Amino acid sequence: MKGELERILKEAKNDISASKDTKTLEEQRIKYLGKKGVLKSILSKLGGLSENERKEIGKHANEVKTQIEGFIQTASDTLEAVARESRLKSGIADLSVGTKTYPLGFYNPLTIVRDRMVAIFKSMGYSVEEGPELEEEFYNFEALNIPAQHPARDDHDSFYVSENELLRTHTSPVQARVMKKRQPPLAIVVPGRCFRRDAVDATHSHTFHQMEGLVVDTDVTFADLKGTLSLWARMMFGENTRIRLRPDFFPFTEPSAELAVSCWVCGGKGCNVCKGTGWVELAGCGMVDPEVFKAVGYDADKYSGFAFGMGLERIAMALFGINDIREFYENDLRLLEQFVK
Ligand code: PHE
Repeated sequence: MKGELERILKEAKNDISASKDTKTLEEQRIKYLGKKGVLKSILSKLGGLSENERKEIGKHANEVKTQIEGFIQTASDTLEAVARESRLKSGIADLSVGTKTYPLGFYNPLTIVRDRMVAIFKSMGYSVEEGPELEEEFYNFEALNIPAQHPARDDHDSFYVSENELLRTHTSPVQARVMKKRQPPLAIVVPGRCFRRDAVDATHSHTFHQMEGLVVDTDVTFADLKGTLSLWARMMFGENTRIRLRPDFFPFTEPSAELAVSCWVCGGKGCNVCKGTGWVELAGCGMVDPEVFKAVGYDADKYSGFAFGMGLERIAMALFGINDIREFYENDLRLLEQFVK
């Protein structure tokens, strides 16, 4: 039987290397390795042998099978190469050459919201600024009219890393940084990451994102603030969006307001995005407090300005119907895959 296996191997080698096309090659494969092929019929005769012989011949037969498979692979590669060569010679582009494909990445919904907002404000002539995440106490608080003992500091629950350095609790310190190094007129937006010592739950995160806006010039009025926010709201959420400004308090703006926009899902009737109120609160804003101008060395009699700070998570949650803030940071592809810019 051993001899017979050797003979089969030799024959297979000749037959396979003589195959001139893929069809003949496939016929040879079936002849030698197929269900009713030559090798199978040999193996069916193993029954009549002693156990030791059976083991030995079985092993040998397997080796022969592997070798024949190798011959077939080599022959198939050769035929493929020859076919490609002749296609190239005939001048037809070789469409069989595969290109590598890479899966496309996705944008985090926060990135999408940030980019849309930046594009809107750029179209209104604003420039984009950035500031450090590790901030000096002076910029995070003092320059913004929040002195050491001011109760407004309590709201911020900061992460301090040294006596007078902390992770910024909002993007407002960048207002002061930019004003210190540049003169009006000024129209900037500042997207960025902020940190507060909040316990994490569905609507709170110790790390979150804001976008600050600041405009300073002579004769800037509250009407400019209102007009700007109203235009932004319509560009962001649709033509029919209205805004609502209600009195609020921030130490660095006076007067201050809380901005809400009419719900773009229900149009103001009340639904689960606006929690039945018809309005979605998205930002704090107001006219720059003269104390802030003093802190950065601007002439408060000559200049006026407005500022706003928006929470990107809030906007993205309402816009995309995401109801747990933690979704933004977990990199769960099942969420991310839904966002193509
Ligand atoms: N910095 C404020 C906050 O984080 C928001 C704000 C920015 C309010 C600018 C008024 C003007 O709550």
